[in-house]
Amino acid sequence: MKKTCIESTGKAKRRILRAALLIALLLLASLFGCTAPRSDEGSATPAPTDLVSPAPTDSVSPAAETPAPAQTPVFDFETRTVTLNSGHEMPIIGLGTWTMTNEQADECVYHALQCGVRLIDTARYYQCEQGVGLALARAIESGIVKREEVFITTKIMPSDFDRADEAIDESLADLACGYIDLMLIHQPGRNDEAVYRAMESAVRDGKIRSIGISNYYTVDSLNKILEFAEIPPAVIQIENHIFTQNRELKEYAESLGIVINSYYPFGGRGNTQKLFENEVIASLAEKYGKTPAQVILRWHLQAGYIAIPGSKNPDHIRENYDVFGFELSQSDMAQILALDEQKRFAGW
Ligand SMILES: NC(=O)c1ccc[n+]([C@@H]2O[C@H](COP(=O)([O-])OP(=O)(O)OC[C@H]3O[C@@H](n4cnc5c(N)ncnc54)[C@H](OP(=O)(O)O)[C@@H]3O)[C@@H](O)[C@H]2O)c1
Repeated sequence: MKKTCIESTGKAKRRILRAALLIALLLLASLFGCTAPRSDEGSATPAPTDLVSPAPTDSVSPAAETPAPAQTPVFDFETRTVTLNSGHEMPIIGLGTWTMTNEQADECVYHALQCGVRLIDTARYYQCEQGVGLALARAIESGIVKREEVFITTKIMPSDFDRADEAIDESLADLACGYIDLMLIHQPGRNDEAVYRAMESAVRDGKIRSIGISNYYTVDSLNKILEFAEIPPAVIQIENHIFTQNRELKEYAESLGIVINSYYPFGGRGNTQKLFENEVIASLAEKYGKTPAQVILRWHLQAGYIAIPGSKNPDHIRENYDVFGFELSQSDMAQILALDEQKRFAGW
């Protein structure tokens, strides 16, 4: 028994010695910074990104060099808009103002805004920007719309190509609406690179929100713009209707996130009856209980084309906006697709 006690006293001494040795070792280790992290210190390890010195603000990060893949434009039939590659929303149906005087534009645009239309297409060349601006100001004044709910498109005409900066300022002054939602080069011509650069610079200055081109019909002509564009075009406005559907350009443009905007949706003045009286259009108008104009406009929207029918007739303006209460079936869309003859009416 005594032996056992002596033995256990000896064992206890050895245990105390081992413990003292262990504590001494741990103290030494902590002095040299070798302790294992506590479980709650794991997060203190810097994340890999923290180890990289911040890039100078003017350097281009690898992410910025690789453009984000373009989003195919999607028409939202609830909001009646499409989001452009500029990030701004554009209404998918509007009112065209070609051939209007300032007085007519003032009257027709005001009426269109009352009917719910939120896209107005004009141009320096039409000489009715002042009328458009007056109508918009009146509609804002009477509480029909707020400025940011309305989308104004205008264009720089070839005779202004040598003075694009001034032309932009003149459009801004005549429209008197603070900023231009979309500015287009009206048609290709000498100097269009300089004109495009003037529009890009106006975007940076906050004068214009989105830019685009008009009357460029081929993939090659679009590629020429893309070669120098720092801000890609958001919209291409071209003659487009049931007889000329520009499908090759549309497919290519959409792959780049660019929307096609149809002008002459009814073929333009002098040609409208050829479209309205077309057998397919007339029979679909009867089938859906709509007018030929409404069937044609609905086809534009479902096919992914923004439409800007021109009209000075208040009833037509109302009718042309009333295209959201029905939907053409896939087979009826296909019938209209088959009418494409790649036939344009405009001579330019
Ligand atoms: N970028 C360019 O180079 C370019 C070129 C041309 C046009 N555009 C733009 O595109 C817009 C549309 O083109 P557009 O006006 O020349 O031609 P459009 O829209 O094809 O046709 C206008 C014609 O259709 C008639 N119309 C309109 N709605 C109608 C309806 N519901 N029923 C029967 N007839 C109807 C109009 O007559 P009422 O007035 O009697 O309604 C007018 O005679 C222009 O106003 C302009 O803003 C751009």
